[in-house]
This record gives sequence, C-alpha cells and structure tokens, in this order.
Amino acid sequence: MENFIFQNPTKLIFGKGSIAKLNAEIPENAVIMMTYGGGSIKKNGVYQQVKEALKNRSLIEFGGIEANPHYETLMQAVTTAQKAGVTYLLAVGGGSVIDGTKFISCAVHYNGKNAWEILTDPAVSKKITPVKLATVLTLPATGSEMNNGAVITRAATNEKLAFHHPLIFPQFSILDPEVCYSLPQRQIANGIADTFAHVLEQYLTYPVNALVQDRFSEGILLTLTEIGVPLLNHHENYDLMSNFMFAATMGLNGIIAMGVPQDWATHMIGHELTAMHGLDHGVTLAIVFPALMEVMRDEKHEKLLQYGERVWGINSGNPELRIDKAIEHTRSFFESLGIKTHLRDYNIGQETINTIVERFTKRCWRLGERQSVSPEKVRDILNKAL
Ligand code: NZQ
Ligand code: ZN
Repeated sequence: MENFIFQNPTKLIFGKGSIAKLNAEIPENAVIMMTYGGGSIKKNGVYQQVKEALKNRSLIEFGGIEANPHYETLMQAVTTAQKAGVTYLLAVGGGSVIDGTKFISCAVHYNGKNAWEILTDPAVSKKITPVKLATVLTLPATGSEMNNGAVITRAATNEKLAFHHPLIFPQFSILDPEVCYSLPQRQIANGIADTFAHVLEQYLTYPVNALVQDRFSEGILLTLTEIGVPLLNHHENYDLMSNFMFAATMGLNGIIAMGVPQDWATHMIGHELTAMHGLDHGVTLAIVFPALMEVMRDEKHEKLLQYGERVWGINSGNPELRIDKAIEHTRSFFESLGIKTHLRDYNIGQETINTIVERFTKRCWRLGERQSVSPEKVRDILNKAL
C-alpha cells in the first residue's frame, strides 16, 4: 500500500426528512446565500423545504446555475454575494450547483483581475480563504457533496477545468434520498455511470496490495450493478435510492483513494467532450472508459482480471479472453442504463479527436496512473471509441 494522508471534515446528515435539520447546522450570525440550478428544486418541493427550515434567517438567493456550471454565470453570483456581505453559502442541487458554489466561495475573496486563474493556477487558489459552504444534495453522482474538488466551464472558450482547495469541503451535506425521486431517468443513468467511473478511476490501475480498498471499491461496483437497472424503473423506491445515494458519496470522498494509485484519464478526456459538444458528464465516461480499458489493457492487466472475476464473475478461460469479456460487460452495463457508448452515436468524429489531442499537447498533459497516457495515446483511445 502507498503512503497517504486522509482527512475529510464533511459532516453527513443522511435520510428522509433531514432538510428540517438545516437551521441548527448553520452558525446563527451567518449571512446566507442559497444557490440553485434551473428550477427543479421549485417543482419537487426542496426549495420550499429549505425556505421553511431557514425562515428566520438572513438569507438571499442566487438561482440559474446551469448544468456544467459556467464561469460567466458564477461571476454574477460572486457580485451578488459581495454586495450582500455573504458569509455562508448553501448549495441546493446536483454536482453543478455544488461545484459552482465551491468556485463562488473562492472567488468572493479573490483580489486579482481574472478569477479564471483560480482554475488555471493552483498557487492563486492556495492564497484564498474561501467562504464556508454546505450542501443539500439532489442528484447522487459526483461526490462533490463530500469532497474538495470542482469542475467549471468557461463558455467563451469551451474549456472545462477542475480545481481543488483544502477548504472547500462542505461543512455538512444533507442527503435525503426522497428528494431524488423527481430525477429524470436520464440523470439517474448519468449518476450511476459517473459513480461507476469514479470507482474505476481509483481501482482499475495496478495492484499495490491494498486489500481493504479493493474490496470497498468492488463493493460499490457490485452494488451499482445490482441496483442500477432496477433503480431506473423504480426511482421512488427508498431502499434503492438510499443505496445509490450512499454509493455515489462513497465513490468520491477519498475513502477508496487511500493508499492506491489513481488514473483519471477518462475524466480528463470526458471533460473535453462535454466542453466541445455539451454531452452529459456521465455519458462521456461511458464512451471513453471501455475504449481506455482496451488501449491500456497491458498496463492494467492484473486489475482487469481481478475486476472481471470479482465484479462480473469471469473466472475461467485464457487471460486475454477474460479481459475482453470484462470490457464487454462494462460496455453492456452502461448500455443497459440507456447510454450509448460510441462517439458515432453522438456524431462526433476525427475533428474533435484532433482538437483534444492538440489541447492536451499544448497543456503538456500526461495522464493515467503511470503518466503514460500521452496525447497520442489519447488519440488511440478516442479512435477506439469511434
Ligand atoms: O438545474 P436544475 O433545474 O436543478 O436541474 C438539474 C440539471 O438539469 C437536474 N436535477 C438535479 N437534481 C434534480 C434534478 N432534476 C429533478 N430532480 C432532482 N432532484 O439534473 C440536471 C443535471 O444536474 P447536474 O448538477 O449538472 O448533474 P451532476 O450532479 O451529474 O453534476 C455534473 C457536474 O459535476 C461535475 C461534472 O463535470 C459536471 O460539471 N463533476 C464534479 C466532480 C466533483 N466535484 O468532484 C467530479 C465529477 O467527476 C464531475 O466531473
Ligand atoms: Zn465524474
């Protein structure tokens, strides 16, 4: 096992009716800004529950944060927060609202000329003390409710970049599975694919004899294969939704990452597909992951065999055939969620591949657990995904 340091300060408040506990969790003198997305929370009653819980508090609102949150929109929220002297942010929504709020929390105290630097220069964000934030999660998928990462899109340049800051872990996150009953099937499928991919990014690398972490990861993957399709058809089933919600949080809160190598190449490639074509985040991962497994099959040989055996029950036959089967099972799983897994299904071809390879070359990116995914390897992966 590799050396590691682990600290995750986010308090989880899980279960039905938990939004009523909001008031007690936010400091009494806080000037709160509640952030939300395009309006789903007004249709499913979450907005009303939050307003009721915080009815005697100093509270302003900023709505309209879009999926794959735009820097341009978030900067408007920053101005609103600065004018009102906001001291506490409450994100009510999915990963996009939470990520956007993490960016707002940093940008409120940023003194430079171009806040996009927070995304491009880790030295800049390090100097900032973010405004405290908390979340009410409405879409299980990203793990953003219990991690310190955020992914922001700049519409003007079609760029989508991630950043991390040690002080943007939410103070607390409320996870009430019932608020997810209103999710459209497409978003549930995206969330399952995203969670599955998060676990693979931290598990499907090379063995380091991290027995507990491997079995935690396999536990999450098996849970998703068990509940995925049933959840699509019964999304008002509390047991299914609560298991999904917990799986998504555990998939990217640092627990399965302890002491193991990590990949993340699929995510970096996927972010480009979203930035350039607007594809849903989960969809991009379902396209890239099977192709990446194929291209990286030698480097990931041992873990692919372990994954095939423990997650898909493939335990006989020659190793190359077993790996073929593990990849086939992965693709079929994504397809069983209703997600198409080839670039051609979305009319994406060589032009996009060339642009992504150019961008990664310019950024001098070498991805993967061994930094062996060069821009040319990225081309191979995307060609396999065609
Ligand atoms: O905007 P509203 O009206 O709220 O509608 C949203 C949105 O249209 C809707 N929705 C959310 N909860 C709902 C609901 N509709 C009905 N009922 C509910 N309960 O779902 C749509 C998608 O929401 P979004 O927040 O965009 O989805 P998701 O949670 O999948 O977040 C995706 C974003 O997170 C980033 C992605 O790149 C993408 O920008 N990620 C963040 C990560 C992190 N911070 O650690 C890691 C991930 O790998 C990912 O990159
Ligand atoms: Zn993801």
